[in-house]
Amino acid sequence: MQQTSNQYVQWFRQTSPYINSHRNKTIVVMLPGDCIEQDNFPNIINDLALLNGLGVKLVVVHGARTQIERALQSSKAQSQIYDGVRVTPRENLVDVMKAMGEARFAIEAAFSSGLPESPMYGAKIKVRSGNFVTAMPRGVIDGVDFQLTGKVRSVDSQAIKVLLDEHSLTLVSPLGYSLTGEAFNLSFADVAIHIATAIGADKLIAYNDDGPIIDNTDKQFRELTLLQCERFLLEQHHHNQSNTYFALRACYKACDGGVARAHVVSAQEDGALLKELYTRDGSGTMVYRDSYETIRRARIEDVVGILNLIEPLEQKGILVKRSRERLETEIGLFTVMEKDNLIVGCAALYPIDNAQAGELACVAIQKDYQGGGRAAKLLTHVERQASKLKMKKLYALTTQTAHWFIEQGFTETDADNLPGKRQLLYNLQRLSKVLVKELKN
Ligand SMILES: CC(C)(COP(=O)(O)OP(=O)(O)OC[C@H]1O[C@@H](n2cnc3c(N)ncnc32)[C@H](O)[C@@H]1OP(=O)(O)O)[C@@H](O)C(=O)NCCC(=O)NCCS
Repeated sequence: MQQTSNQYVQWFRQTSPYINSHRNKTIVVMLPGDCIEQDNFPNIINDLALLNGLGVKLVVVHGARTQIERALQSSKAQSQIYDGVRVTPRENLVDVMKAMGEARFAIEAAFSSGLPESPMYGAKIKVRSGNFVTAMPRGVIDGVDFQLTGKVRSVDSQAIKVLLDEHSLTLVSPLGYSLTGEAFNLSFADVAIHIATAIGADKLIAYNDDGPIIDNTDKQFRELTLLQCERFLLEQHHHNQSNTYFALRACYKACDGGVARAHVVSAQEDGALLKELYTRDGSGTMVYRDSYETIRRARIEDVVGILNLIEPLEQKGILVKRSRERLETEIGLFTVMEKDNLIVGCAALYPIDNAQAGELACVAIQKDYQGGGRAAKLLTHVERQASKLKMKKLYALTTQTAHWFIEQGFTETDADNLPGKRQLLYNLQRLSKVLVKELKN
């Protein structure tokens, strides 16, 4: 029992950096209509309510395809989809609106629940909606008249921001009104993307129930740069019309429009959104904008770039001197951050103590690029490598940067605590501080 509550405390503490970094951030969530009818729906609502409670500003845009199909069937009306978009004849609009109402009321009702001993107890979420989206007809495309299917013309971003600032959860249905006073059926992805870009959202989340986004070896993509995402979508364009494809396409469009990060998360896995936002490893696929900045294993061609980066720091005595030959031999231990074909950062991971532990060394970020969280990103990357190698601890020796390491979760320790062989090589003259961080495997 004691152990369980200790683990809980540990876990809770580990989430605090994520809680702090997401607080007051704006997230637009795409919730497809079919999710509303699945078993995991109450869990999704609980997770969104928790995010709201943690100070995240939320806009939820729901879809209603399942509900519309059902309404059309019961009216014996025809359903026509072209290139993933519904055609909406005037006579179908009442059914479309009814179905949207059904989806939207189900969400509002779920956010209003508050039974004792349920995660919603005491949440008191204020759900607000309004006429935020102005629409215009989609028109005739490839000879198909989309009739009352519209596209987004503009978004009243100011009205949404006012609601978010008063901590209301903004719920948006995929309906828009034209200046002529007509209602138009819109794609919920289109609405979410336009809102996310108009209000300058920090993230877009696309819930998806068609399984993860995988490469051709069936491995899940955890992260995709905008460029990689574009290539992947182009490859899949002709044969993939899955919900996953459309969710990823929405992420791509949102990032292309200026949103820094967009994530596809499972609508069926309990807690997928919390894992994605509040744990290091995440659970879904993230698309991110800073496409020309990548972190990767160093290659032999990077030696010159790394030398250019570290030599000035070696001269100042901040880093230990490494000869070119040594760097060439050890290049496999280095990770680099590359931006526009330039090495802007590096870090090395040396296995010590029979690879039971690792030593993080030679962490450097080029001067012009410092202060942007890049070294912290590199560190996260190296920590993941070390965890994969089943290393239990990560050491760092530094003369001038101890506080930076402490801010990254390291603690100072005595040089005598260094594993045996590394202790022998400890350079007494440098009087480096020894720091250590426990790793989770
Ligand atoms: C330390 C270093 C890697 C940080 O890179 P970075 O990408 O700027 O780091 P981050 O953006 O993640 O963190 C920046 C923060 O660290 C702080 N920081 C930078 N150098 C620091 C130092 N020597 N001691 C304490 N804090 C330091 C910055 O002031 C900044 O804090 P702020 O956000 O409150 O202003 C970079 O400054 C560097 O290359 N320094 C020279 C090499 C070095 O000292 N390497 C470590 C020894 S292995």
